[in-house]
Amino acid sequence: MYNRAPGYAAAAARSACACGNDPGIGAEMKSYRIALLPGDGIGKEVIPAGVQVLEAAARGFALSFQEFDWGCELYLRTGRMMPEDGLEQLRPFDAIFLGAVGHPSVPDHVSLRQLLLRIRFGYDLYINLRPVEILPGLAPPLRGKRAEDIHMLFIRENTEGEYCGLGGRFKRGTEDEVAIQQAVFTRKGIDRVLRYAFEQARRRPRKRLASATKSNALQYTMVLWDEVLGEVARDYPDVAVSSYHVDALAARMITHPESLDVVVGSNLFADILTDLGAALQGSLGLAASANLNPREPRPVATRLSPTGHTEPSTDRGERLGPPMFEPVHGSAPDIAGRGIANPIGAIWTASLLLEHLGEPAAAERILAALKAVTGERKIRTPDLGGKSTTEEFTAAVVEKIRPKP
Ligand code: NAI
Ligand code: MG
Repeated sequence: MYNRAPGYAAAAARSACACGNDPGIGAEMKSYRIALLPGDGIGKEVIPAGVQVLEAAARGFALSFQEFDWGCELYLRTGRMMPEDGLEQLRPFDAIFLGAVGHPSVPDHVSLRQLLLRIRFGYDLYINLRPVEILPGLAPPLRGKRAEDIHMLFIRENTEGEYCGLGGRFKRGTEDEVAIQQAVFTRKGIDRVLRYAFEQARRRPRKRLASATKSNALQYTMVLWDEVLGEVARDYPDVAVSSYHVDALAARMITHPESLDVVVGSNLFADILTDLGAALQGSLGLAASANLNPREPRPVATRLSPTGHTEPSTDRGERLGPPMFEPVHGSAPDIAGRGIANPIGAIWTASLLLEHLGEPAAAERILAALKAVTGERKIRTPDLGGKSTTEEFTAAVVEKIRPKP
């Protein structure tokens, strides 16, 4: 149902798949353009699953999809993960839906930097939002913990910090070899991610924020982080703030997950913590994420959702590029091509995508259907101990989304 546009010719192809109900004569139906970047490995299996649920959920608005074959295969053919003008090609879209990139024959730092980080940094998508919750029917893997004990929202700084990419290697291959990897933290960068995290905490019932630091060892960057935290906290007296060293915070996620609500951390710290979060959910295949560039956080929420995400992007004039939505997992070469990848992360991500586009009812349709299927405990992919395929699970979710005759 969607266009496949090969590599460099991608921009030439346009899809016009309108899904959903006709809003009526004279009414103009809203329409959103989604760029699909399935990428590599199981990315190519879970993105079609996400597209199926998006199409089923779209009612009263239209979605059109255009697929780009950017990724490691293109790199092996052309030496590029994406065309030179890739960011310009993606800019007109309303959202990007990405699977994963990475292949054993391409160094991971090449695939990550040339595609994923280029988009995150290039469009200044400074928020990486990752809900960590237990879906109905899935038991948390922690002994003695109930599903409701694990209900966190991670806010990861997404455009600077440890992943800024500054550094170098000298005297390569000699015994005197040196590698330097610089971390860059700016007051502005810290301030905006913390403010966004405080806003999210303020909108949730428990109103708690935990900040990941390591200021005992990192006396410049993390001390600045902590100072800005103290300053921003003064604007949010209704939010209870705690600051934890990141190692202790990792332990706390296991020993006292119920004490954590919104968690904010730097690019590296929250990257690591959120894979732990995915493991707490039951599988890396479950975790969803959104890369966003919200405008100045405003105190009034438009709507509180189960994922804690609220702000649709409407300020199209000033933006650098569209937001990007992706399951947290990688390309999983160990299971790629077998049709057994868990599509839940991608399906949940599809819900985040619609929510962010400003279609909360359709987002909720996807989430409710997903929860209904996991709650029935019948269809599960092998990572959750089942025998079902990606396609079987997806079909069950689509079936629940479709209106009953
Ligand atoms: P990975 O997430 O691909 O796989 C880790 C383990 O989790 C594997 O055993 C895999 O089979 C399993 N797994 C992951 N997603 C699953 C799913 N949906 N269903 C069932 N099982 C699932 O991480 P890994 O192995 O560290 O990296 C593999 C490649 O992916 C590398 O090239 C890496 O650079 C890349 N990667 C890309 C990311 C992205 O594009 N956002 C994120 C993480 C890794
Ligand atoms: Mg990661």
